[in-house]
Amino acid sequence: MTETKKILAIESSCDETSFAVLEASGGLAAPKITLLHHLITSQIAVHRPFGGVVPNLAKREHLKNLPFLYNELRAKGFDIRTMDLVAVTVGPGLEPALWTGINFAKALAAAYKKPILGVNHLEGHLYSFLFSDAAQTRSFPLLFPAIGLIVSGGHTMLLRMPSLETWKIIGSTLDDAAGEAYDKVARLLSLPYPGGPELEKLAKKGNAAAIAFPRPMLNRKNYDFSFSGLKTAVLYHLKKQEKLSARMKADVAAAFQEAVIDVLVKKTERALAAYGGKALILAGGVAGNRSLRNELAALAKKEHIPFFVPGNAMNTDNAAMIGAAAYIHTLRRKRSYPLKANGNLSL
Ligand code: KG4
Ligand code: ZN
Repeated sequence: MTETKKILAIESSCDETSFAVLEASGGLAAPKITLLHHLITSQIAVHRPFGGVVPNLAKREHLKNLPFLYNELRAKGFDIRTMDLVAVTVGPGLEPALWTGINFAKALAAAYKKPILGVNHLEGHLYSFLFSDAAQTRSFPLLFPAIGLIVSGGHTMLLRMPSLETWKIIGSTLDDAAGEAYDKVARLLSLPYPGGPELEKLAKKGNAAAIAFPRPMLNRKNYDFSFSGLKTAVLYHLKKQEKLSARMKADVAAAFQEAVIDVLVKKTERALAAYGGKALILAGGVAGNRSLRNELAALAKKEHIPFFVPGNAMNTDNAAMIGAAAYIHTLRRKRSYPLKANGNLSL
């Protein structure tokens, strides 16, 4: 029997303020995480007029939302005195936003004499798969080596995981992240922020075969990505048009999405083959994309391996995933992250 840990997790790295209360047990062999409370406030409406996240506005909103959400937690019966650990995101992200969560967590931990742990936001995305349906029903030692694909607004990377607590980055983006490319192309199409989900919606109405956009890096024998050339190709295509009908916009969205997903899926397929992947993990904001999920699910099915993808609301930034990563971190005996905001922290 492994010890049960009660964790309060706080996330404020970008434009979501979130608290989670979890109970974790099972150790590395069979981690089991029960989510007792999960609160998320999004600042989308605040940043939308600016077409992207404004760091100082994000800070102001977090400063308002943190005590507000904490009081809401307490109203639900949460008692900090019953916690074993306070976990907080220290990076990567927007530093003014990160600091608000760190300072809040530090004050709480000091007042109630609780241990505090800094968490890497990307480890949070990675371990969000522990909340997938598949993770609840599988025995972990059978799944490794696994291949992980993290696709968010700031990162795109392929990982080889020899075990639950270890990984190696085998490829990443050389320029824009997949989510960033979605957001930028969405702006070119005058869609509101955040562009990813809006572009996906529009793509459903379009014909992907109408335009042949490039598949950047597809023929390189590595696992790196590059999406800025694809964005430029979309820009040139739009500039060439005299008038842009709604149909044409939908076709651009569909063709762009097909190009992005094609590259992500093919590189993942090659990584699975090259490393003998026994499981596939997908995480990050772009993991909310239906077409990407479906194609990777089909790939995993073809390879007869399990596919782990977090459920809704666990793809985009949230504190539950920070709590899950904190639990794994306590088991892997790795050096702790300093309790200060690090906007460029790597995985
Ligand atoms: O992981 P996340 O919430 O924040 C970062 O850590 O970056 O990811 C946000 C990103 C944004 O770029 C957003 O447009 C994208 O994920 N995204 C999507 C979808 N939902 C969110 N991109 C494509 N399709 C979606 N359904
Ligand atoms: Zn994120």
